[in-house]
Formats: sequence, C-alpha cells, structure tokens
Amino acid sequence: MACQYYAPCEHGAENFTIDIPKVTFGRGVLSEVGERAKALSMTQVALFTDVILENGPYIDSVKQSLKDAGISYVVFSDIRIEPDDVCVDDAAKFLNSGSFDGVISVGGGSVIDTAKAAMVCAKYPRPVRDYFAPPVGEGLAIPGPVYPHIACPTTAGTGSECTSISVLRIRELNTKFVFASPHMLPDVALVDPTCCDSLPSNVVASTGFDLLSHALECYTAKAYTRWGAVDNPNARPLTQGANPWSDLAAAKALEIAGDYLVRGVNDVSDTEARDQLMWGATLAGMAFGNSGTHLPHALSYGVTHLMNDITTDGYAVKTPFVPHGISVIVTAPATFRYTAEAAPERHLEAAQFLRADMKSTTNNDSGEVLAGRMIELMRETNIPNGLQGVGFGENDIRRLSDSSIRQTRAIGNSPRETNMVDIENIYNNALSYW
Ligand SMILES: [Fe+2]
Repeated sequence: MACQYYAPCEHGAENFTIDIPKVTFGRGVLSEVGERAKALSMTQVALFTDVILENGPYIDSVKQSLKDAGISYVVFSDIRIEPDDVCVDDAAKFLNSGSFDGVISVGGGSVIDTAKAAMVCAKYPRPVRDYFAPPVGEGLAIPGPVYPHIACPTTAGTGSECTSISVLRIRELNTKFVFASPHMLPDVALVDPTCCDSLPSNVVASTGFDLLSHALECYTAKAYTRWGAVDNPNARPLTQGANPWSDLAAAKALEIAGDYLVRGVNDVSDTEARDQLMWGATLAGMAFGNSGTHLPHALSYGVTHLMNDITTDGYAVKTPFVPHGISVIVTAPATFRYTAEAAPERHLEAAQFLRADMKSTTNNDSGEVLAGRMIELMRETNIPNGLQGVGFGENDIRRLSDSSIRQTRAIGNSPRETNMVDIENIYNNALSYW
C-alpha cells in the first residue's frame, strides 16, 4: 500500500483480511428474513430477542416471514441489557434443548452478542469465560463453525450484525470483556431502519455516539503493519488494526455522524437522519469489525464496571446503568487529545469528516480540533459532561484505571503506546469538558 500510515514495519503484518456478512439494508427488509433463512437451509430457528421487543411489530414481522417460508421457530427472550456469562449459559442450554439448525437475532447489541456467544457454548460446551483472553479466561480458540446466523439490529449504534465480536459482562468480575472469532461473524445482516422510528432521543444519542466512536477509533487505530505478522493466515484476528478497508467505511460513517447525529437525536420525526444513522452504524460495524477499537472502548469498561448509583432515564434497567455509548464518549475527547500526537494527520482528517470548522488548522491542532468537534456534538445532544456527568470524581481515577488496564487488546490497538499513568491522565482530563 502506497500510504505512509501503512509503511512496512520490521516483523509487522504485511497482509490484512476483510470479512463481512451479506448485508441487506432498507426499510422493510425484516420481511425478507424467511427467504434468507431458507437460503441458509434453516428449517427450525432459534429466535433471539428481548422481552421488550418480543411482543412488538418487528418480531411479528419476522415471525410472519418465517411462517410464509415454512420455517418453524422458538423464541428466546430472556436477555437483559448488558448480558453476562450466566445469561449466555442459559441461552446455550436453550439452543441445545431443541433441534435448531439456525439462529436469528433481532435486537440491540445485547441480543446479538448473546446469540453469538451462546452459539459457541452450545456447539463447543465450555464456560464462555474460557474463550476470553488471559488473564480473564484461558484464551481458547473457537474450534470451528457455529450455527448459520441472521442478525437484525434494532438500534443504530452497535454494528454487531457486521462484527465477529461479542461483548459480555463476566458476573464474577462484574466487568465487561470482549472476545472475538471469525466463526462468530453473522452470515447475513438485515438492517431495517424502520426499527429506529420509535426510539427515544436519548437512545439515539447514546447509540449514535457509539457508532461515531467505533468509526473514530478504527480510523485512528494503530496501523495493521505495526501488529506482528501471523504464521497461520486462519489465525489472523479481525481486530488487526487500521487498514485501507476500514478507512473507507469509517470515513463515510464519520461524515454521516457529522451530518445527521444532531438531527436524528433532536427530532424524532426526522426519518432521513435516522435512516442515515442506521446506515452509518452498519458501515462503522463493517469498519471496526475488521480493525478493532482502541482506548475509548477500553476505558468505557472501567466506567461500566464501577458505576454506582447512576440511573439513566428511558432504559428498562433497575441496576446501576450507564448506556454503552455514553460510557464510551465521556472519555473520548480526552483520549483523542492524547492520541493525536501519534497520528496527527488521521485525527485532522477525522475532524474534517465530522464537519469540524477546519479554518487555519494545522497538524499541531489536530487533537484539539477533533475533541472540540466532539464536545460540540455532545453539547448539542445533551450528553453528560464527562466522567463527572455520570457520577465519577477524582477519587475514582485509580480504580477506573485498574479496571481498564485489563483490556489489553484494545489498549494495544491505540496509535500511541499507552501505560497505566497515561490512562490515569486521560481519565483525569475527562472529568469535565465545559
Ligand atoms: Fe461500542
């Protein structure tokens, strides 16, 4: 590749691999699910969703389409927001209780990620934790294929329908961790933006900043050439660092966030904006699913680990809860101020994609220009003002850092080498922005 960012490095990777599902996007595509399932030779489907969606119109549409295609189904809806390993065990038992030959997941990231993990545990029975990297788990490779899987997102953020990644809370550690395998990539993604029509503004804001950060993190991630080469091409992780493919999809997703995020959040009737955000989330999923995220996601897991008496309006969750996109974005401006010096041109380009005011900017300003544009978008969409906005203070910095330092793969994907002191400094600089 003739781009300086991908200049060869000694012992570094020389190749990158791209893997995405067959994606269909558009209003009403949920009604195609029956024919898509038939094409994957599904006859008995495990239909994963959550209790809120279970009795709603999207699941009705999916059921009707399956009936029309002559495919039977059984619903599994015992999936909470922020699913954990115990939830996955239950879902795996459900899968093994029937003669299912396919899985369809309809929901947000929690539903799709639970389906991915449950399929692994049903096919290759082990506690799901064993598949997580040390020190959390044993780092076992997933031995082979799981079930044919059609993923149908109902929010515009997670991108999970296009990734081989599952994010789960490990109950014993009360912390979220990531595991990934090409075998967990869905076969088909049906992305129907009508699912976003009725979402409240705060959900669109949280998921929208998740998509924005997915795109920003993969555009500014460490270049794939700076990760070590792999001996076995089948073992090449899709969290392989920034690459020319993820750049393409991330750049467009950032433009969409810059143009439509504020509109989609602040006007429930703006279907043009919400449709665009759904497409942006899919693009960002295709991007970070082939590059990996970095520090904002790594640091978000400290936030969701240690959240205390924080309640969030608009979510059916009784336990302390900070929505994923909020937990990511509260540290993101401080993070990009820190990482900019390692890849100033990329940070400046990202700011431009987000429609920042680029008048008389230079590479030296790149972190500030990017952070400034993010803060502008946060203020226009009523996002909490940094860590203090979600209930943390200076005294929490050490514990947040101790928690997040365990996210080794994501921290290693930062364009700038990052240690414990750096993470403490980022958290400190993320306490408030205005
Ligand atoms: Fe995310």
